[in-house]
Amino acid sequence: MPHPLTTRRHVLAGLSAAALPAMASAIAHAASGPSLRALGAEKGILFGSALSARISDAPYLDVLKAECGVIVPENELKVYVIAPQPDRYNFAPGDAIAGFARDNGMKMRGHTLLWNRVEYMPKWLLNIDFGSNPARGAERYLRDYIRQVCTHYGDQIISWDVVNETIDPKTGEIRDTPFTKALGFDCIRIAFEAAREYAPKAQLVYNDYMSWERGNETHRKGVLKLLETLRAKNVPVDGFGVQSHIGNDGHIKEAQHDQWRAFINAAVDMKYKLLITEFDVNDKDLPTDTAVRDAGVAAAAKDYLDMMFSYKELDQFLCWGMSDNHSWLQGWMPRADKTPQRPTPYDAQYRPKPLREAIAAALKAAPKR
Ligand code: XIL
Repeated sequence: MPHPLTTRRHVLAGLSAAALPAMASAIAHAASGPSLRALGAEKGILFGSALSARISDAPYLDVLKAECGVIVPENELKVYVIAPQPDRYNFAPGDAIAGFARDNGMKMRGHTLLWNRVEYMPKWLLNIDFGSNPARGAERYLRDYIRQVCTHYGDQIISWDVVNETIDPKTGEIRDTPFTKALGFDCIRIAFEAAREYAPKAQLVYNDYMSWERGNETHRKGVLKLLETLRAKNVPVDGFGVQSHIGNDGHIKEAQHDQWRAFINAAVDMKYKLLITEFDVNDKDLPTDTAVRDAGVAAAAKDYLDMMFSYKELDQFLCWGMSDNHSWLQGWMPRADKTPQRPTPYDAQYRPKPLREAIAAALKAAPKR
């Protein structure tokens, strides 16, 4: 049976009666003004969102169709989905997202070829035996995995998060994984070189969850050191993806503007393109009242996006989900008052929120690139 995302009929069959008014409002909104995709395009910024293959509700997909020019699979291209077992690759969930993007004329990003953290590797990979020459065995495995994934999607993926989150925020050093044990820093180099070979037209990105809030200084320093090393060793890296899950560290009001500007300056001085790859605003430190909270989220976003969009090196901006009910933060970082988080541009009824206005305003204010 085709995946829900690929057939409209199937999607509609799954719609509950309660969802119908929400669909109407999503469609009404789409007609009422320029989309975020259009506002971004005017400035040379490609706007989009993550999408999970588990989601099949039509009003949500309609919001994405109305607003997005690019889609990134939220989990479907991660090794724990593609290779839950060593020798059986599962591309079906990723293919469903790729089909949705293609059917709706959207570009596609890829996330991620080497999420270099043990927490996100399947068990078999943690216990893998790379043989009598572990460096050679690990290189062979990594190159082969990247070859299979990149060639499966070919040129449809315009930009790859090749390596994700390899810096430990506590130490600023590369995290320990089976790959770093066997290869050290070379696993990062090999991942990018293999991606260049097997996805020759794609932009290659180092992606990490940098934060401008107090407490992230060691992480920023460590990532800059990595970006410098990549340049010094001529590793083929085109861009630096700043995930931008702002508010996660609980200091929405303690943004370090000057330190952040110095950090981004350092990255662009090294000739990296800049991307916002996973934007959302964790509202856990804002009050329960919805209006106050939405205003706080919107203000934090505008402040952050104004600074980021001032960099002409930034040409992609993706939200990590477009409506609150589909945000990973609901399960990941629940609020103490147990009310749902409100981290995305649309509410659970698919009505645009002040955050959507803030994003639109930031795009309008952005210089052309
Ligand atoms: C998250 C997804 O949103 C969740 O559904 C999943 O359970 C865990 O991963 N940084 C990343 C993303 O690079 O891959 C993460 O996505 C969010 C943080």
